[in-house]
Amino acid sequence: MADLIASEKIDEIRRSVDIVDVVGEYVQLTKKGRNYFGLCPFHGENTPSFSVSTDKQIYNCFGCHAAGDAFSFLMDIEGYSFQEAAVELAEKGNVKLDIEAPAAAAAKSMSPDFQQMVEAHQLLSKFYHHLLVNTKDGQHALEYLLNRGFTRESIDKFQIGYSLNSWDFVYKFLTKRKFPEGLMERAGLIIKREKDGTYFDRFRDRIMFPINDRNGNTIAFSGRALGDDDPKYLNSPETPIFNKSKILYNFQSARAHMKKMQRAVLFEGFADVIAADRAGVENGVATMGTSLTDEHIALLKKQVQSITVCYDSDNAGKEAAFRASTMLSDAGFQIRVAMMPDGLDPDDYIQANGAEKFRNEVIDGSLTLMAFKILYLRRGKRLQDEGDRLLYIEEVLKEIAKLDKAVEKDLYIRQLAEEFSVSLDALKEQLEGMETKHSSSKSQKEHAGRSNSPMMMNPPAASTSKIRPAFHTAERNLISHMMKDADIAYKVQSLLGENTFNIDEHQAIFTYLLGYFESGHPPDTSAFIHFINDDKLRKICAEIALVTINDEVSEQELSDYIKQVLNYQKMLKIKEKKAEAKEAERQKDYVKAALISMEIIQLQKSL
Ligand code: CTP
Ligand code: MN
Repeated sequence: MADLIASEKIDEIRRSVDIVDVVGEYVQLTKKGRNYFGLCPFHGENTPSFSVSTDKQIYNCFGCHAAGDAFSFLMDIEGYSFQEAAVELAEKGNVKLDIEAPAAAAAKSMSPDFQQMVEAHQLLSKFYHHLLVNTKDGQHALEYLLNRGFTRESIDKFQIGYSLNSWDFVYKFLTKRKFPEGLMERAGLIIKREKDGTYFDRFRDRIMFPINDRNGNTIAFSGRALGDDDPKYLNSPETPIFNKSKILYNFQSARAHMKKMQRAVLFEGFADVIAADRAGVENGVATMGTSLTDEHIALLKKQVQSITVCYDSDNAGKEAAFRASTMLSDAGFQIRVAMMPDGLDPDDYIQANGAEKFRNEVIDGSLTLMAFKILYLRRGKRLQDEGDRLLYIEEVLKEIAKLDKAVEKDLYIRQLAEEFSVSLDALKEQLEGMETKHSSSKSQKEHAGRSNSPMMMNPPAASTSKIRPAFHTAERNLISHMMKDADIAYKVQSLLGENTFNIDEHQAIFTYLLGYFESGHPPDTSAFIHFINDDKLRKICAEIALVTINDEVSEQELSDYIKQVLNYQKMLKIKEKKAEAKEAERQKDYVKAALISMEIIQLQKSL
């Protein structure tokens, strides 16, 4: 990660904020002893296993192993880059940054032209909203919305508005406020007439939905016709500030809910997002009338690993759901697909059946991807026809071949055998042929999926096992003491001599730590965790730092720990030697075997 902000500045930013304040904006924390506790925002839970340490300025979740400092907290919860997190924290701690602020302060760092475009949108969004809720001109539009089941609350939350039935209202509104007409045309708010070069408003007599970027700035609009006018939805064109393929409707508001639920719900239309939000499903987003792009996927990837696809249940919707869920599954997401009775979209469904049924039956009752595909592949087939039936079985088998778990495969293949009264063995045989073809492409995909996984979300392998061998704990205790005291770090270095820690990650942390002290940094757990340029190591470090340990460590304790570390290596060596001795005996080289045995005895003595 390119550090555009000087490292002294980063230190200054870190000192200027208290992690308790930063986390406290997202999590309700209660103080217990020296630490604060709350419900982890990164996974759903009912009993608090999320702790924040004021002393160490780090957080840690014992449930999902999320861990890190104030920077990584914002990066994780908001999906920020490091730069963005730094800018936000600097603002919080009143630290002046003289660099160009990156996207978190996007509006501030934009060129003045872009800034004005955003400003015009923000202003209009407020004005459209005012027209809708407070004026006679907007009354029919408000009635239309209320009739459709929109509530005043969601009209406010989504800043829904109304554009007047006028050709030049917005034109006048903007030019009176000194927004240049050329710029406003580029922003998509007004359109130039070819014949005389005059301008007219793009949006007239429409319900206005502001579209926000991921920082909450309004950058575009979509206007819905009140009647049957064409087009039903009129969107802002692509502009310097609005790129459809990168924008997900409601992303900014949904972000915290996605994190909390560890799941996003993907809708086709934003009327659906709003209806679902009203029904208590607040982790929903929608594309802007385009199909899902790689950019959308990358955006989601930073937030969640699981997605429920909830598209319209008409034919086009099912096809789109099939495409989107396949793309998302290939990108490494866990997918479920929510279905409604034929033809309905989520908004219709909620209106007809209510919020509770939507949550329980549609969202919670969503299908696994495989179950959805089994249904989907039936479409348009006449299964009583033998040709169609064989084609169907083949298509389903192809999908079964892609499944990871043997149990799952077994389940679906049995279903298939039973439904069509075909022999299980025949199906299995056919499946095996498909699996060999599939496996090579899959392992590549898996790899890509993993490397994209969001920072700090996957617990490191070393931390998953509850019972650790003695040397493992010894290494962690050593690191914990070394983080607090450079002298101890140097002492451990000399005690270890040529040897290394047994766990590679521990050795890497140790190397980082020596580098950290050598470049003149004083001991500071949070600063050190930050110094490490590797998410996995950072997390292990945070875990180690949070295990309470006596501040004082005696020479005896140190050498006991070192002994445990080295003993493990000796034990490995002994094992190796024993195998060698056995081999020598097998080859009837008794002299060699005896020599090795003596080495073994020496090693055992030194334990
Ligand atoms: N859309 C669009 N232009 C259109 C029609 C649709 O951009 N002429 C996009 C919009 O983003 C819309 C989405 O496609 O949110 C889904 O379209 P559709 O299912 O037709 O609309 P609904 O969400 O059902 O909207 P409504 O309930 O208001 O009819
Ligand atoms: Mn609809």
